[in-house]
Amino acid sequence: MAPSERSASAYELTIVSPTFNERPNIRPLIAKLDAALRGIHWQVIFVDDNSPDGTAEEVKAAAREDSRVYCIRRVGRRGLAGAVLEGALASAAPFVAVIDADLQHDETLLPAMLEVLREDRADMVVASRYLEPEGLSTGLSPPRQQGSRLATWMSRKVLRNDVSDPVSGYFMARRAVWDASAHKLSTEGFKVLFDILASHPEPLRVSELPYKFRDRLAGESKLDRRVVIEYLSLILNKATNDMIPARAIMFALVGSTGFLVNVGVVLALDGAHAPLPFWGVQLTAAMVAMTSNYLINNAVTYQDRRRKGLALLSGYVRFCLLCSAGLFVNVAIASFLDDRLHAAILAGVAGALFGAVWNYVTTALAVW
Ligand code: GDD
Ligand code: MN
Repeated sequence: MAPSERSASAYELTIVSPTFNERPNIRPLIAKLDAALRGIHWQVIFVDDNSPDGTAEEVKAAAREDSRVYCIRRVGRRGLAGAVLEGALASAAPFVAVIDADLQHDETLLPAMLEVLREDRADMVVASRYLEPEGLSTGLSPPRQQGSRLATWMSRKVLRNDVSDPVSGYFMARRAVWDASAHKLSTEGFKVLFDILASHPEPLRVSELPYKFRDRLAGESKLDRRVVIEYLSLILNKATNDMIPARAIMFALVGSTGFLVNVGVVLALDGAHAPLPFWGVQLTAAMVAMTSNYLINNAVTYQDRRRKGLALLSGYVRFCLLCSAGLFVNVAIASFLDDRLHAAILAGVAGALFGAVWNYVTTALAVW
């Protein structure tokens, strides 16, 4: 093959589309890409996490008819960020875009995004919902709109840059940008763009183009409360310069909900004039808090290694034993320090910190 022929058949643009239960959206998306990208050498890589609805089979059926369509089927793994990264790293094209498979992202924007990169006006182009006045008016429920605004504000503080939509799931970058940040990216959570902006070794030249977020017609959104906690953890992880792992931050956030549960139960029992001495009230409240902490950590922090059935029970017993030992460590260290230093607050904080680290490390090793 002559070099010119070789380059003529090479892809200029890889579109990565993560999928989980998007079967009905696969063919429509391919048709829309085909219409929007006339004259461009593109491929689409669907990265499917073994969707029970058979999305991967649908992609492969389409791939037999259209050689620009590829499927990466992952088993035993879940996670939007990891899926996107895997697709991007499979690409050999100079430019890589990410687009949701559910048709909420306006694919007709892709040629304009590509043009910006071709002309080297930026390293990355973000499709933003916030540049267009009515960009967010559809597609998201009012609480999601507020949540999305708050998330945007927080990540701008951490990134110290001016991207109007740093949590957008729709963007395009040079492949080099992906390669340079790949080893630092979290494979959990939703916020790939935010993570790249925070992780890339040099500041990136980012350009934004407005679009209108569409309503989802088929399938359902996978963004739930878990994702919100994951995202908070990622922001804090980046704010501490990667020093504290996102999972430890999540564990700590869950721990603080335990504090609220504890106080709440004390107030409730007190209000109900329960026939218990105060230590009994506090003990009950602490047990309820420990139980809720265990269940939330199992569902959120360790969602990927979730314990079920009998294992849920045996894990619970171990969790309670380890956290009780953690309480002992906490009190022992605090009293020791208070003895030596006579600084109650310092001793208290140090004890609590040691207790928390103890709980995190031991339960990470012995429960999950
Ligand atoms: N492979 C894989 N694995 N794909 C997933 C997973 C997963 O665990 N979870 C979700 N997806 C896919 C969906 O199938 C869809 O194609 C895309 O990722 C986006 O998921 P949605 O569940 O539709 O997300 P959304 O519409 O609620 O959220 C969108 O807006 C957010 C901003 O508010 C996404 O674009 C987010 O990336 C974006 O941050
Ligand atoms: Mn969606």
